[in-house]
Amino acid sequence: MGAPRGWVFWFLLLLAAACSGVLLALYSWALEQSPRPRPGPRVRHVLSPQAFLQTKAWKSGPRKNRPCQHPLSLAIQHHQRFRGLFNLSIPVLLWGGLFTPELWDHLSRHGGPYSWQGLSRQAIASSLSLLNSSESARLLPAPGTRPAGCLRCAVVGNGGILNGSGQGVHIDAHDFVFRLNGAVIKGFEHDVGTKTSFYGFTVNTMKNSLISYQHLGFTSVPQGQDLRYIFIPAGVREYLMLRSAILGVPVPEGPDKGDSLGPTASGASAPSPCPPKCNTTAPGAPSTSIVGPRPHTYFGPEASARKFKLLHPAFISYLTQRFLKSKLINTNFGNIYMPSTGALLLLTALHTCDQVSAYGFITSNYQNYSDHYFEREKKPLIFYGNHDLPLEAALWRDLHEAGILWLYQR
Ligand SMILES: *[C@@H]1O[C@H](CO)[C@@H](O)[C@H](O)[C@H]1NC(C)=O
Ligand SMILES: *[C@@H]1O[C@H](CO)[C@@H](O)[C@H](O)[C@H]1NC(C)=O
Ligand SMILES: *[C@@H]1O[C@H](CO)[C@@H](O)[C@H](O)[C@H]1NC(C)=O
Ligand SMILES: *[C@@H]1O[C@H](CO)[C@@H](O)[C@H](O)[C@H]1NC(C)=O
Repeated sequence: MGAPRGWVFWFLLLLAAACSGVLLALYSWALEQSPRPRPGPRVRHVLSPQAFLQTKAWKSGPRKNRPCQHPLSLAIQHHQRFRGLFNLSIPVLLWGGLFTPELWDHLSRHGGPYSWQGLSRQAIASSLSLLNSSESARLLPAPGTRPAGCLRCAVVGNGGILNGSGQGVHIDAHDFVFRLNGAVIKGFEHDVGTKTSFYGFTVNTMKNSLISYQHLGFTSVPQGQDLRYIFIPAGVREYLMLRSAILGVPVPEGPDKGDSLGPTASGASAPSPCPPKCNTTAPGAPSTSIVGPRPHTYFGPEASARKFKLLHPAFISYLTQRFLKSKLINTNFGNIYMPSTGALLLLTALHTCDQVSAYGFITSNYQNYSDHYFEREKKPLIFYGNHDLPLEAALWRDLHEAGILWLYQR
C-alpha cells in the first residue's frame, strides 16, 4: 500500500470525523425538537438474579421436570400494555421456505433500513435458497437436541456497567448466551463469562468492531462448534456475505467484494486487522498496516448453512413499530434510525426463550459507567442519531418492572 492511498485514508478519516460532528449537532437539534421521556429514576430490583434464575433449585432434581419459575409469556399476559405489543407467534427468522412472491412484493415496496427496496432480487433469492432446511427456521436447537424444561437466555450487551461486575458465572449459568459486536471475552471472563451460543451483528457493526476495538482485545469474531451467527439484514451486504460464507466463495460485489469467507478460501492464516491506532507509521508514509480485516477468519472453519441465522426484516419492522418507535423517525434521522444491535438481539431472545436476563444494557445510571466494559479509561456513552438509547433504556426498565426480563443493574 503506497503513500497516495495512505493520504486518501487520512483525508477520509478527517472527513468522517467532521461529518460525525455535524451529525451530533443535528441530533441534539432533533432531540430538542421532540422532547422525550428520559430514563426514569433508578429501578428497584424486582428479583435477585439467583431468585430469577433459581440457580439453587437447578442444582438438585432432574432438569427434565424443571419448570420456568418466571416464564416471560405469563408476565406478558399479566401486563396490560405489553400484552397488546407482544406477538410471540411472529416468525423471528427469515429462511428459504418463507421467500414467496408476496414477501418480495411486500418488502421491496416499502422503504426503511430493513426493506428490500432497491436490492437485487437475485442476491436475496440465492442467499435464501441456501437457508432451506427447517434448521434455518428456528433459532434454538430442536427439542430433543437442546436442554429440556425452561430455556433461559442471557443477552450480553457491551455496556461499561459490566466492568468489575463479577457476573460471568451467572451469565454462563444460562442455557444460551447471546453476544454482539465487540464482545471482548479474554481478560473479562469474571465479568462477562465465556459461553457464547449466538453472536449477532450487521456486517457494518462487525467490521467496525474489529477495527475500532482490536486494540482493546476484540481481535476476532467469537467462534465455536456450537456457536451460531445471527445476521441482522441491514442491507444487501448481509445477504451477499451470508451466501458467500456458506458457499466458501469470495463476496462477488458491493463494499465487501473480495472478502473470502469459507473454509475453501485460500490463505487460511490471515494477518489480524490493524486499526489506525495501531499503525505506528506516520500519515502519508509508506504503510503496510491499514488493511481491512481478512474475513475468512470471521466465522471459523465450519461454515455450513446451519451456522447462520437471519433475522426476518418483517420481525425487525414489527419490533421497531411496537417497541422502539422513536420520535427520531419523524426527524432528519428517519432514514437512518434503527434499533441498536443489542436491542434487536434482546427482543429476539424475548421472542424465543422462556426466560431472559439482560446484562450490559443501558440503565438509568449509565453515566456512572464507561461506554464499554472493555475500555481502559472511562469514556462517556454518546447518543448518536441512528439509535435512540433513551427510548431503549426506558423499554428495558419497563420490561424489568413488568417481570418480563431481568435487567442487571447496580
Ligand atoms: C401474530 O402473528 C401471527 C403470525 O404473523 C399472525 O398470524 C397473528 O395474526 C398475529 N396475532 C395478532 C394478535 O396480531
Ligand atoms: C437446499 O439448497 C441446497 C443448495 O442449493 C440444495 O443442494 C438442497 O438440495 C436444498 N435442499 C432442499 C430441501 O431444498
Ligand atoms: C454515580 O456516581 C456519582 C458520583 O460519581 C455518585 O454520587 C452516585 O451515587 C452514583 N450513582 C449511582 C446510581 O450509582
Ligand atoms: C473498570 O473497573 C476498574 C476497577 O473496578 C476501574 O479501576 C476502571 O477504571 C474501570 N474502567 C473503566 C473504563 O471504567
